[in-house]
Order: sequence, then C-alpha cells, then structure tokens
Amino acid sequence: MNRPPAVRLDRLLANLGYGSRREVHVLVRERTVVLDGQVVTDAGARIALTRDLPERLSIRGAPVDPPAPLVLMLHKPPGVVCSHREPGRSVYELLPTRWRSRTPALSTVGRLDLDTTGLLLITDDGPFLHRVISPRSHAPKRYIATLESPLRGDEADIFARGDLMLEGEERPLAPAWLEVLEPRLARLTITEGRFHQVRRMFSSVGNHVVSLHRDRMGDLDLPPELAPGAWRILSPAECESALIQPQDGPLRLA
Ligand code: URA
Repeated sequence: MNRPPAVRLDRLLANLGYGSRREVHVLVRERTVVLDGQVVTDAGARIALTRDLPERLSIRGAPVDPPAPLVLMLHKPPGVVCSHREPGRSVYELLPTRWRSRTPALSTVGRLDLDTTGLLLITDDGPFLHRVISPRSHAPKRYIATLESPLRGDEADIFARGDLMLEGEERPLAPAWLEVLEPRLARLTITEGRFHQVRRMFSSVGNHVVSLHRDRMGDLDLPPELAPGAWRILSPAECESALIQPQDGPLRLA
C-alpha cells in the first residue's frame, strides 16, 4: 500500500488559510493544535496527509479544514458569479471565509451564468478540473429550462441532429437531447460547455430562456436536500461519477 504524503504542519495550515507560517507557529505555541489527542508542540512536525485528517487534527477545538485535493458540489443560487474577477457576489463567498486563502486555490469547474442555478462543482484539484472541462470530456450536463414561448415541436430534432451552428461559431454543436416536460418547460442534455450554450440554443430556434437550472453532471445528481447556497464535499466515487460518459441512449458517442 502507498504511504500517504507527509507535510510540515506549519506549511499545511498556512496552505489551508489559517494564517502565515509565523501565525501558525503562534497557534502551536498557544497549544491550540491537537493531533491524535496530543497537543502539538513542534510547528515543523511532519504529519501524514490522510483523508481523515479532520478527524485527527483540531485547531482551537474545531476539526481542521479538509486538505487538498477537494471537490465540492454547490447548489448555486441565482445572482452570484462564478469568477473571482467579475464584479458582484461570488460563489466563493458562500464557502467559509478562510477557504479564500487556500493554496492551491479553489475554482469553479466551468461556469454557470449569473442567474443560472443548480449543480456547480468547485475544486482545487487541477487534474480533475481539466478532465471535466476538457473538450475531450463528453460527460453530459443536464439543464431544466423555463422558456418564454411554448415549444414548437421541432426543437428536439434540430438539437439532436448535430449540425446546429450557433452564431459566431465555426463548428456545429454536438447532438443534444431535448425532453419536453410542459409546453414552456424542457430538459436539455448537452455534452459540451460552450459559452451561454443552452440560452443560445433556444435563441437559435426563436425562443428565450427565462430561467435555467442544472440538475445533473454525468451520473451525479444535485440532491434535493441540498438547499440553494448549500454545499458539500464529494467522495472520490462521486467525483468520478460526474465524468461518466453516455454508454447508450440518445447521446451515445460514435
Ligand atoms: N448554458 C447557458 O446558457 N448558461 C449556463 O449557465 C449554462 C449553460
């Protein structure tokens, strides 16, 4: 079995946003850091980075934050942006404040528009992020769209054909699967992540998306009990399930 990597405590806590290394030394001097039931007295001690670290290590009586790599699912509410740089309230403000100082930094796995709600992954795991957003990943993403006008009836065929060109693009969209739930309510599954893709697809068939919600990525569903604004950490198996590509059904790849 592979041994878990070991890191210096001061470095680990600084990377988790508990302060500078000097500030971490103060925490240790104040006897606030406890590992496996023992007060830590050496800030330079090397500790094994196991997944259960929050159960073994506490700071001021509270479990330590989970170390990297971390993948979260957030139920994105409307009115928050997915970027550190855009003005306005960001999804990162829904997480514990200390997490904004983590190294490696957390970032969203792709983006949802300001008013799009639903399943958003956030991670500090670079390889995982790239696997999900890579153009070679064809993991489906499922959206519920509320539309301004009733569906005409030909949209499912148009989206499924795989030849729909969006304005300003050079390549047609891959086939997408539309399910009509009500005259103005549709479920759309896409395997790409182009800019404003769902809104632009409906606009290309003369409609307008009034509200948009993502409820599934790969085989990973947004759980109904996760309220808007709430988040939870994913297990490695759940992370893999977000990447599952269609093996059969209408979006099966050739
Ligand atoms: N497609 C869109 O148009 N907007 C989103 O937020 C996600 C997919």
